[in-house]
Amino acid sequence: MTDTILELQNLKKYFNVPAGELHAVDGVTVKIRKGETLGVVGESGCGKSTLGRVVLHLLDNTDGKIIYNGEDITKVDRKKLTELRHKQQLIFQDPFSSLNPRMTIYQQLAEPLLIRGEKRGAEMDKKIYDMMDTVGLARRLVNTYPHELDGGRRQRIGIGRALIMDPEFIVCDEPVSALDVSIQAQIINLLLDIQEKKQLTYIFITHDLSVVRFISTNIMVMYLGQMVEYASTEELFNHTYHPYTRALLSAVPIPDVNREVNRIHLQGEVTSPINPKKACRFASRCMYATDKCRNEEPELQEIAPGHVVRCHFPLMD
Ligand SMILES: Nc1ncnc2c1ncn2[C@@H]1O[C@H](COP(=O)(O)OP(=O)(O)O)[C@@H](O)[C@H]1O
Ligand SMILES: [Mg+2]
Repeated sequence: MTDTILELQNLKKYFNVPAGELHAVDGVTVKIRKGETLGVVGESGCGKSTLGRVVLHLLDNTDGKIIYNGEDITKVDRKKLTELRHKQQLIFQDPFSSLNPRMTIYQQLAEPLLIRGEKRGAEMDKKIYDMMDTVGLARRLVNTYPHELDGGRRQRIGIGRALIMDPEFIVCDEPVSALDVSIQAQIINLLLDIQEKKQLTYIFITHDLSVVRFISTNIMVMYLGQMVEYASTEELFNHTYHPYTRALLSAVPIPDVNREVNRIHLQGEVTSPINPKKACRFASRCMYATDKCRNEEPELQEIAPGHVVRCHFPLMD
């Protein structure tokens, strides 16, 4: 028996666009263990949401494999998909657009249960009130509509809708990015509490490295569809080998005012994800890039135990 819940093997998702093939996700290989959180970080457009959607079968993959609880679920039939849809859930960035504006909290939370075929009645009422308690929504709000609530409460409904199916695995796609900083910590703490109570496994997607630090067991840094660095959270914040990760880290505000921060400003044009050539995709913005970087694609290499990096010249200092 293994405690790996999800394994991605060379997962790819290409979109056909007028200019060619857009490599949104281009060869992601990673394992996630039960009860852990994989943080996925990178700038807008690097493929984070696409990765999450492919994992949840909301998009078909182009190549590679998805192994879930030891079973190859890359291609699934309807029956299997329904089963997976109960176990695997998605929490969105913007609950306002994912919630139905004409439904009260009660109705939003009841809907997934009704779709699953559960009957209305005292048992359903209890489930819904219990869920409101779990996600920290006061019971008196049961008949309110999304527009009457602030962003934090709306996200609590989004979390409740995911949890009411009693899932084991959740993709959280920028769940706090639309929220005020003061509310972000509350929602992250809620996700952490629930994870511990229910032994949930998360993929936590964000463009903000400072957010992912507190929730992730391991972190994967993505750049133009590729995994460029992967390590445990502690390891990654102690040693970063990829120039891109360093640049991302240098942009994280550091609360300690006495600490010197040398911000790295990325320059150069971003390479197009359409028909990318065999080269380092970060080379055009990397201050250390050489001809080799512009002409040869770096492979992933394990630079320290459990720490992989895709770079011809990892930063060793
Ligand atoms: N349905 C689609 N058709 C064509 N291109 C898409 C589609 N969805 C996403 N993309 C492209 O795929 C890349 C990755 O997008 P996305 O996964 O949304 O990135 P992120 O979530 O990291 O911001 C982007 O270049 C985006 O324009
Ligand atoms: Mg996204």
